[in-house]
Amino acid sequence: MSERVRYLYVHVPFCAHRCGYCDFVTVVGRGHQHERYVDALLSELARERAQLADDVETVFLGGGTPTFLAAPALERLLAGLPAAREVTVEANPETVTPELALLLRRGGVTRVSLGAQSFTPRLLSVLERGARPEDVRAAFYAFRDAEFDNISLDLIYGIPGQSAADLDRDLGAALALGPDHLSCYELEAKPGTRFTHTFGNELSRQADAMEGYFEQVVERLTEAGYRWYETANFCRPGAPRGASDFRAQHNLAYWLGRDYLGIGVGAVSTIGAERRRNRPGLARYLDALERGQTPPREVEHLDTTDRRRERIMLGLRLDEPLALAGLEEAVDEVALARLERLELAATRGPRERRVLSLTTRGRFLGGGVTAELLA
Ligand SMILES: C[S@@+](CC[C@H](N)C(=O)[O-])C[C@H]1O[C@@H](n2cnc3c(N)ncnc32)[C@H](O)[C@@H]1O
Ligand code: SF4
Repeated sequence: MSERVRYLYVHVPFCAHRCGYCDFVTVVGRGHQHERYVDALLSELARERAQLADDVETVFLGGGTPTFLAAPALERLLAGLPAAREVTVEANPETVTPELALLLRRGGVTRVSLGAQSFTPRLLSVLERGARPEDVRAAFYAFRDAEFDNISLDLIYGIPGQSAADLDRDLGAALALGPDHLSCYELEAKPGTRFTHTFGNELSRQADAMEGYFEQVVERLTEAGYRWYETANFCRPGAPRGASDFRAQHNLAYWLGRDYLGIGVGAVSTIGAERRRNRPGLARYLDALERGQTPPREVEHLDTTDRRRERIMLGLRLDEPLALAGLEEAVDEVALARLERLELAATRGPRERRVLSLTTRGRFLGGGVTAELLA
């Protein structure tokens, strides 16, 4: 029997509007279903409770837009979740009011992740965002006023129509707020979507510029004193109450290959040799739980090799060296020696305690280098 899980993800699919570029499991509006959905989440949690440890480390409410939930539903959901050292909620700026910030604080939330995406009105329109730059700033200050000491901002780059100078201004505007953490993602446009159809040529131009943008992001944020601790994630020095640093502890658990439980429509869990994915249909999810049944889901078997390979792929996204003990069979030693000669990867330590890291250049090349390393 595997150990009980200490990391819980809770998916809330509701959004005010579906942004053109977004591929997450979301539904628009559905105010009449919010209370029912919370009931279903709490039933699913009760069904899975035995898999969770008594002392849960992190809870992450993601979406969708958890802060789009009607206030009583959100309050009830927070009250029904286990307490944890880190409780993060994703928030869309236009949903944030001083009352909402206090509701989250009273509900045990310790960290908020605010979806800014950009501070340039024209680019926010391209992304079909509901918030203007002034909404992002107001939301940020509402959280600070409610004494949140761990606020993260999400930014996207490579947006159609964005230049390197626009990106520099976005980074400057984000830094001016003094966030504790930043996640900076390159825009991924899924083939076949309306967004890709509308911006096709411009998206290919941006794809060619992406490597340069990535370097620009890392340079600007590290110069400002942020730690580039994961490919797309940065945190400032210091620590929030009760933690040793500002890294996102929940996401860190994914990157370190820990088991996690996911509840909600479309949520994924990885526990021991199983990866379970709840299916994305909301109606069936609600129906199943209301009938006292397990929600429809797919179960994938992960063998030891799969998990080792994932461990390497995710672990090398971090700035701390990866211990190779137990992972040796998944590493192509010839490729590793070549990557060391090219100064893209480096190993240290005696054989039984050998650690592997990517050099700065290797981290910029990222997934390509890791793919070569895998046996
Ligand atoms: C699951 S979304 C939910 C957050 C929240 N609803 C919002 O939109 O701010 C979490 C983050 O993923 C990022 N994201 C979503 N779609 C993306 C895409 N196609 N390419 C790159 N980043 C994306 C955004 O930065 C977003 O803040
Ligand atoms: S608000 Fe967030 S989750 Fe909802 S559609 Fe937009 S990007 Fe996706």
